[in-house]
Amino acid sequence: MSVAPEIENLLHETRRFAPSSEFVADAIAKPELYEKAKTDRLQFWAEQANELHWHKPFTQVLDWSNTPFAKWFHDGEINVSYNCLDRHVEAGWGKRVALFFEGEPGDSKVYTYLDLLIEVKKAANVLLKLGVQPGDRVAIYMPMIPEAIIAMQAVARVGAVHSVVFGGFSADSLAARIEDAEAKLVITADGGFRKGKASPLKPAVDEALSGGKCQTVENVLVVKRTGNDVDWTSGRDMWWHEELGAVETEHVAQGFNAEHPLFILYTSGTTGKPKGILHTTGGYLTQAGYTHRNVFDLHPGQDIYWCTADVGWITGHSYVAYGPLANGATQVIYEGTPDSPDWGRWWDIVQKYHVSILYTAPTAIRSFMKIGRSVTTHYDLSSIRVLGSVGEPINPEAWMWYRDVIGGNKAPIVDTWWQTETGAIMISPLPGITATKPGSAQVALPGIEMAVIDDDGNKVGAGHGGYLTITEPWPSMLRGIWGDPERYKETYWSRFEGKYFAGDGAKLDEDGDLWLLGRVDDVMNVSGHRLSTAEIESALVSHPFVAEAAVVGAKDETTGQAVVAFVILRRSHMDEIGSDADTSKILRDHVAKEIGPIAKPRTIFVVSELPKTRSGKIMRRLLRDVAEDRPIGDVTTLADTSVMDTITGRINAGAND
Ligand code: PRX
Repeated sequence: MSVAPEIENLLHETRRFAPSSEFVADAIAKPELYEKAKTDRLQFWAEQANELHWHKPFTQVLDWSNTPFAKWFHDGEINVSYNCLDRHVEAGWGKRVALFFEGEPGDSKVYTYLDLLIEVKKAANVLLKLGVQPGDRVAIYMPMIPEAIIAMQAVARVGAVHSVVFGGFSADSLAARIEDAEAKLVITADGGFRKGKASPLKPAVDEALSGGKCQTVENVLVVKRTGNDVDWTSGRDMWWHEELGAVETEHVAQGFNAEHPLFILYTSGTTGKPKGILHTTGGYLTQAGYTHRNVFDLHPGQDIYWCTADVGWITGHSYVAYGPLANGATQVIYEGTPDSPDWGRWWDIVQKYHVSILYTAPTAIRSFMKIGRSVTTHYDLSSIRVLGSVGEPINPEAWMWYRDVIGGNKAPIVDTWWQTETGAIMISPLPGITATKPGSAQVALPGIEMAVIDDDGNKVGAGHGGYLTITEPWPSMLRGIWGDPERYKETYWSRFEGKYFAGDGAKLDEDGDLWLLGRVDDVMNVSGHRLSTAEIESALVSHPFVAEAAVVGAKDETTGQAVVAFVILRRSHMDEIGSDADTSKILRDHVAKEIGPIAKPRTIFVVSELPKTRSGKIMRRLLRDVAEDRPIGDVTTLADTSVMDTITGRINAGAND
């Protein structure tokens, strides 16, 4: 695999930051972890699983006989919500703060573990009253407010399966996900606060359920957050607060089989149709808890942890709704955007709650870097002692800025690599053990086996690049794609015999540390969010103006990658079509409506042809050259080698201005 020259430079990174002796003395993760996992990997995972409360203990750790469908701890029974709440209250920690909620308008609310348990029990009783049975699917479409976590915990508590849909997705995206999972109930809110405004959510639910769509949905539970007027379908819609106020406060959690489904989370793949990634109970919670404790050096009762991810993404599942609560952590959640009312907002929150562990995405760090160091000047960030990064490669410059400006030059940075599919962190330094290296995610965690391999499936040596694969099953691995076991096998297990292929390229440096090189398939990573080229292309061609579309991810200083689209317009609509600039606006809005604002192309080029091979495959590599404004590469395999001249000629002539 070819490695870009800028990556080659990175590999000669010589800066190292060894943990301080104070940090080492008090660190949760000890070097023996690596040793133990090497000696007996399954015994190691059994020990991690036994950090949890089992309603019925397991006797077998892993059943891998039906590869690639793993079963972990499968004769055990467990309740996720009991582990996250009841057991901490029973251990006498009921008064410990579980959540500090900070609303965007400045309102705040505190939930102790006891408060949260009471709310979750009430919500569980509402679910039962509405006829939600173990295994039933519940869609959750909410802003980042405590009720989102309460809803997830309550669904898990009664053995139902949640499908959280990010609140930024459109009504159409929501409907597609509800239909695929055949959800019985939708939990939503009237809206949430974003960028200083009340942003409605309920209308999108109404639209998703209109016109005979989503027939499986029987009820909609609505949290009142903004107080804005909402349309109401009586018999179907119910206010969350009224329902929670009318049920018993007691609910006894029962154990479910360790392989009982816990949630589905849709993510973009290489086709136009998002995949419902399925996670189950015991293995998922084991690895979410283990990684959260060791990677972030979590000291429950002392640390204040803040992960800035929304519950609509996997990070908001594993490192907001489940991992931290399983560990009895005290965490902050924030509803709004980092720039409301100004770019100091996050740092104000860190100061207000004395946040000691901060977990965020490189795209956010780069946005702050653009503002400059003055962004933190008025705030005391001295409480911070561990920093985390997730979602995309973090460039060494951003890493150093994060360390220096946010971490006061002392807090270790953990660059955590993982995916919706892996369920929990797979590659990361361990603070207190690893000497960190700017820009590298470094090593697989104890208990995780990975390999960088070449086209033939052979391991590459130090100094070489290849495909990132996972060579042994892991507890929080996806158990399949909802409703499509064949697609699961084919997507992840068919490229290399017996290995899970993650879709990422990676390189090993001379020390054997891993450097992530980004996706090698047609998946883009925009601000740490996954988008598929095919999904955006199909949204574009669903507009009557568009005959053909090709989408590529182009490098972007802030968002990592940006969506760039090339479209051919339909001749039959030429009299309705205005200037290229107008068309571009119409199409960008159309994509926002079809998928959601995050998928809006940054740039749309109107072209008369697309570069294709003789077999008709679009050569995205060449379009990426155009999008990134560099000389066009080898065109000899094109069916018509003059196409690129036509495209660049039109763009350079300013036809798209
Ligand atoms: O390309 C990798 C990138 O994000 C992809 C997974 O996206 P998603 O399922 O949305 O989960 C994001 C949050 C876990 C990966 O295939 N990625 C994630 N973390 C990193 C990363 N790339 C480089 N470094 C990381 N730390």
